[in-house]
Amino acid sequence: MIPRHVAIIMDGNGRWAIRRLLPRTAGHRAGMQRMTELVREIFSRGVEYCTLFALSAENLQRPREELDALYALFSEYFDREAARLKEGDISVRAIGDLSLLPETVSESVRAAEEMTAGGEKKLAVALAYGGRQDLVAACNRAVAKGEEVTPETFASMLSTGGMPEVDLLIRTGKEKRLSNFLLFEAAYAELWFSDKLFPDFTARDLDRALAEYARRERRFGNI
Ligand code: IPE
Ligand code: IPE
Ligand code: MG
Repeated sequence: MIPRHVAIIMDGNGRWAIRRLLPRTAGHRAGMQRMTELVREIFSRGVEYCTLFALSAENLQRPREELDALYALFSEYFDREAARLKEGDISVRAIGDLSLLPETVSESVRAAEEMTAGGEKKLAVALAYGGRQDLVAACNRAVAKGEEVTPETFASMLSTGGMPEVDLLIRTGKEKRLSNFLLFEAAYAELWFSDKLFPDFTARDLDRALAEYARRERRFGNI
């Protein structure tokens, strides 16, 4: 079975660079190249939805210099890849609190979202995203409407609204934690951790994760 929705925590760019005696930003550039390739590979395997964790709300505490380099890379990604994503029938959107990012980034995101709208396959890039913050925002929206929610209507109020729940969650970079990613959406996701730093995570590694996923038995609490 191919997972319908794959989510990836793209971690380890900084360590990849430090090991090569390069500035952390060089690791982010290498990570961005890897992300570009992986997006194509993922959808070519039959995955329909993909959510990539590119910047957490908590990452906004990092030094200005590193953030500025990341912002430039995000803009570059959306500006450069939009046409190619459209060609691949992939619609892209950003999730997270874009108001926390410079306008240059949100403008690039907006343009890419517009250009790729209607694509059959769905890519979500999480920027300035926090799972808890997203849950609280959805709760506040429900309260403001005075509406009681069900798990389904609540899911539709999250920033991932419209996407099915996560089937396979991959984290690169050795750490074994969620770091505030998709707390509601990944409730029953299969977890796969790779020791590889993100810039070293190849299509072969992706295929290993997909093969392992196919072997897993998902019971969802049943027997
Ligand atoms: C992941 O790589 C990318 C972002 C969080 C922006 P890191 O920058 O966290 O890399 P490490 O974990 O320090 O190696
Ligand atoms: C998680 O990585 C966020 C992204 C990959 C975008 P972090 O490097 O921020 O996670 P922690 O701090 O090790 O938990
Ligand atoms: Mg990290």
